[in-house]
Amino acid sequence: MARKKTLFECQACGFQTPRWMGKCPSCGEWESIVELSTEQIEFLKKTSGTAKATLSGKAKPITEVGEDNITRSTSGSRELDLVLGGGIVPGSLTLIGGSPGIGKSTLLLKIAGNLARSGTRVLYVSGEESAGQIKLRANRLEANHDHLYLLSEINLQAVLNEIAAETYGFIVIDSIQTLYSDETPSAPGSVTQVRTITFELMRIAKSLQIPIFIIGHITKDGSIAGPRVLEHMVDTVLYFEGDTNSELRLLRGFKNRFGSTNEVGIFEMNASGLHDAQSMAGRFFDKEKLQAGSALTVIMEGSRPIIIEVQALVAEAHAHPKRSSTGYDNNRLGMLLALLEKKLDLPLGTYDVYVNISGGIKITEPSADLAIIAAILSSYRDRPLSAQTLFLGEVSLTGEVREVSALSQRLREIHAQGFAKAIVPEKPIEETPIKCYVADEVAKIVEWIFV
Ligand SMILES: Nc1ncnc2c1ncn2[C@@H]1O[C@H](COP(=O)(O)OP(=O)(O)O)[C@@H](O)[C@H]1O
Ligand SMILES: [Mg+2]
Repeated sequence: MARKKTLFECQACGFQTPRWMGKCPSCGEWESIVELSTEQIEFLKKTSGTAKATLSGKAKPITEVGEDNITRSTSGSRELDLVLGGGIVPGSLTLIGGSPGIGKSTLLLKIAGNLARSGTRVLYVSGEESAGQIKLRANRLEANHDHLYLLSEINLQAVLNEIAAETYGFIVIDSIQTLYSDETPSAPGSVTQVRTITFELMRIAKSLQIPIFIIGHITKDGSIAGPRVLEHMVDTVLYFEGDTNSELRLLRGFKNRFGSTNEVGIFEMNASGLHDAQSMAGRFFDKEKLQAGSALTVIMEGSRPIIIEVQALVAEAHAHPKRSSTGYDNNRLGMLLALLEKKLDLPLGTYDVYVNISGGIKITEPSADLAIIAAILSSYRDRPLSAQTLFLGEVSLTGEVREVSALSQRLREIHAQGFAKAIVPEKPIEETPIKCYVADEVAKIVEWIFV
């Protein structure tokens, strides 16, 4: 008897293999590879066949290729335009991810309202809420307009029919996890479903030149719930960050085929929705109340300097010492602690160390290392740092403090916010009213730390 043909697929990244494996060799995920059913294999054969049949490749010399002229349109939100790289690109597929309640639907409904007001016919597809519920939110956001159309639907074919029947200039899908295609035999949210849906949306976006925004939920560990194939297929991936308890939300670019991923959009949530943040100054710290274990630094979010507070808690361990950080890389924390033991003879091996960054910010650049060290020292000695001093510097494995980018810009922000002193890795080139103390190695920080 002929052996049944088997096919396995990774539920995280879509990698396929003829035999089962415990760990996906493509994305490294464990236990993510599952066997596909005969119908699923048949479906894959069918769809890959059609993709091949429509291919009409003919290579051209690059010198004969014209450049794409991208004319972006504004979303009506300065901050969203900034993360997108200057506005919405026609025919682009954008994924907006974030944990539940962070403001994805709020932001996109507001943008949908803005575009409708400027004359674009907008389709807002929701598989999560009824049209009546969305209407209530639109009232609150003042996003009501004749050009904004709501469709409460979870079936992809019904959505495609609506798009084919009417002319829309902007489409929102809320959310990818609730949509399903009845042409594929898998469950909503599976690799095959997400791949089929995203492929269809991509085809529509490109062929009709309609920008489409897809909302995706993310899990606790920060990845999009469901397959990562989604991230690979779309043009742009933006993630919301922030603490649902505070009103600030950051929208960070992770992938952008049409712009840099350096910029971060900053929004404020209130009863009337998510607004472009007016001023970042003073939002992430409270200089009147600096307690032992807190240190201030200034990080660059895209092209903008932001002063933030980092906090550390060093407490005697009663069992195996714990090291844990929120908003700061855990491995980096381990490295800094090892360095403090070695260079400053601190017996941190018998202490629990926790690090937290205020305002739900995730630090993605190394200039905050010195502030983390200062906060750890302050908590260890139970002495508050001077509320007038900021700490800037990247720390290397050898204990050197390395220079940071845009030092003058950071110092200008420090001055603008009314601070007087900074511990810096090098003497600033530009003149500054800030009193700078140079700590070019970790051991030197002890001299300056309580100034
Ligand atoms: N009637 C309301 N008044 C004020 N804030 C609200 C109201 N309804 C919802 N919100 C706030 O809006 C936040 C974002 O909601 P939403 O945009 O639905 O998040 P997501 O789509 O990311 O899950 C909620 O966490 C809630 O705090
Ligand atoms: Mg929502």
